[in-house]
Amino acid sequence: MGRKFFVGGNWKCNGTSEEVKKIVSTLNGGQVPSGDVVEVVVSPPFVFIPYVKSELRSEFHVAAQNCWVKKGGAFTGEISAEMLVNLGIPWVIIGHSERRALFNESNEFVGDKVAYALSQGLKVIACVGETLEQRDAGTTMQVVAAQTKAIADKISSWDNVVLAYEPVWAIGTGKVATPQQAQEVHAELRKWLETNTKAEVAASTRIIYGGSVNGSNCKELAALQDLDGFLVGGASLKPEFMDIIKAAE
Ligand code: G3H
Repeated sequence: MGRKFFVGGNWKCNGTSEEVKKIVSTLNGGQVPSGDVVEVVVSPPFVFIPYVKSELRSEFHVAAQNCWVKKGGAFTGEISAEMLVNLGIPWVIIGHSERRALFNESNEFVGDKVAYALSQGLKVIACVGETLEQRDAGTTMQVVAAQTKAIADKISSWDNVVLAYEPVWAIGTGKVATPQQAQEVHAELRKWLETNTKAEVAASTRIIYGGSVNGSNCKELAALQDLDGFLVGGASLKPEFMDIIKAAE
């Protein structure tokens, strides 16, 4: 099926310039599988993007953690897709659960953002995932299907989209999804893509997992049939991120 393993590092709102320098130096110094085997994308806070882009080894790429829903203008505090393109930033994370929960980003708004970012030539890591209450209520698949549909409704091609399944209850909690839980949702999401888009989209779209991934649990998860990589938060700030990249082998 040829889905290249994808490892994203989402640094969230963390880091001083000294810390960022250290992380970049670890990334630059580490031994990792070749670019044919794994695609590595790190996502620093906006202010550190130019530094990271200029200093990071060339086979690793940079993502922004967010961008505005339409063309830039009078939107104080926002960063536009055009600016990212202008800086040569190829990727953007959209729809992370922290933005959905803390900044009230609705499914529709996330769909609009994904569509606009793609229209400007960015590649998108689009995040979906259920809360603990929703999982306990047995609505996991309904929730992630609705989030995915809101994106599918607005885009005409999935070529430049990586879908990140991130159960909210697993994010930053140390409570990683079991391999069975992860595989179940990933397989369902792939089935959803097959039914609602095209078989080729389902076969080629990378569905990555995020939520308390670390150097110890990544190997077992990486072996799952429908899991094509990770979106890593906390551990992407530490040297163990190199071990997570190596899980691609
Ligand atoms: O974007 C990354 C996810 O929110 C996962 O974060 O690895 O700290 O749980 P975490």
